[in-house]
Amino acid sequence: MPTRTDPAGAALPTAGLPVRDDLRGRTAYGAPQSGSGGIGTPVQLNVNENPHPPSPSLVADLAAAVGTAAAGLHRYPDREALALRSDLAAYLTSRTGVPLDVAQVWAANGSNEVLQQVCQAFGGPGRVALGFEPSYSMHPLLAAGTNTGWVAERRADDFTLDADTAVAAVRRHSPAVVFLTTPNNPTGTVTPLEVVDAVCAASAGMVLVDEAYAEFASGPSAVTLLDRHPRLMVSRTMSKAFALAGARLGYLAASREVVDVLRLVRLPYHLSALTQAAARVALAHADELLSTVAAVKDQRDRMVREIAALGLQVVPTESNFLLFGPFERPADVWSALLDRGVLVRDVSSGPGLAGWLRVNAGTEPETTTFLAALTAVTTSERTS
Ligand SMILES: Cc1ncc(COP(=O)(O)O)c(C=O)c1O
Repeated sequence: MPTRTDPAGAALPTAGLPVRDDLRGRTAYGAPQSGSGGIGTPVQLNVNENPHPPSPSLVADLAAAVGTAAAGLHRYPDREALALRSDLAAYLTSRTGVPLDVAQVWAANGSNEVLQQVCQAFGGPGRVALGFEPSYSMHPLLAAGTNTGWVAERRADDFTLDADTAVAAVRRHSPAVVFLTTPNNPTGTVTPLEVVDAVCAASAGMVLVDEAYAEFASGPSAVTLLDRHPRLMVSRTMSKAFALAGARLGYLAASREVVDVLRLVRLPYHLSALTQAAARVALAHADELLSTVAAVKDQRDRMVREIAALGLQVVPTESNFLLFGPFERPADVWSALLDRGVLVRDVSSGPGLAGWLRVNAGTEPETTTFLAALTAVTTSERTS
């Protein structure tokens, strides 16, 4: 039976197993997905993916590179992923203008794994991480999984974050790690570099700027602050603008010393030879892959205009998704959209998010289907 609420899942039964006390009664993180155990919805706009699949020529290049790597699968992969990290450094340098070398870039299976390694290395028992909510809900979960305490401060009512609020929170909690997300998920709002700069200056601990959606934003990257702040780390992913979510490749830029510390907690050979090969091919095709960004932003802007024309609010966004609402009964709207074949994200149970839903830009036809469904749902809401 398809699940009718979002997010899916109930507390997992632990059946008398000697599970860690803090994991009892918890649910596994994850939005509904198509395929086994998920919802087979035609239009899936709920996990901020890039809707454009790789071109046939890129698929052919990926297959060839993975085929070559497959011939060497009796050996472990390059434990330090040096060729890939060097390509990532060159890519980040080309995007930000900041010269970076391989020793300043780290890579893992999605930026989630990078962030987990950050918590393992710099968090842990007796230390706290600080976030500004609403924000990416995996940050507190990664803290919890590594026995790092979590303290949350609120963003302003318009979901922005200013330097005074952020610095005061740092002074109050003395966190071992501060998480700043820009553009922020699920709000799409940007945190200005001045705020990052002020937080770094006020922090005795590490500062992690999560730039998973940076390629959709117009402002400069926090990478430009790395030379001024030795405890700053900037994480990125190939899952969003690069349209490579299935390959699982995230990365981080920081000082060489920080990267060396992350090497203390990584599993040996954590990045498979197949992942490394695929990611390098994608980086070699960066121009082609990133050419989808303009199309995604066009559909996002169209959503912004047409949702506003329905009389709803849209939070200003610099990402590939947006928050819309507020609704009196967001779960009903979510469900009614699902009935019309469109899956969005019900984030309304999150801190400060009562009434809001999140949707990411689709292809043009997907966006058309979403907008038609939303029009029908909101019209029938008003007339019922
Ligand atoms: C803000 C933010 N950071 C990190 C991630 C993790 O992405 P991945 O593990 O696919 O790199 C996401 C995914 O949605 C995200 O929204």
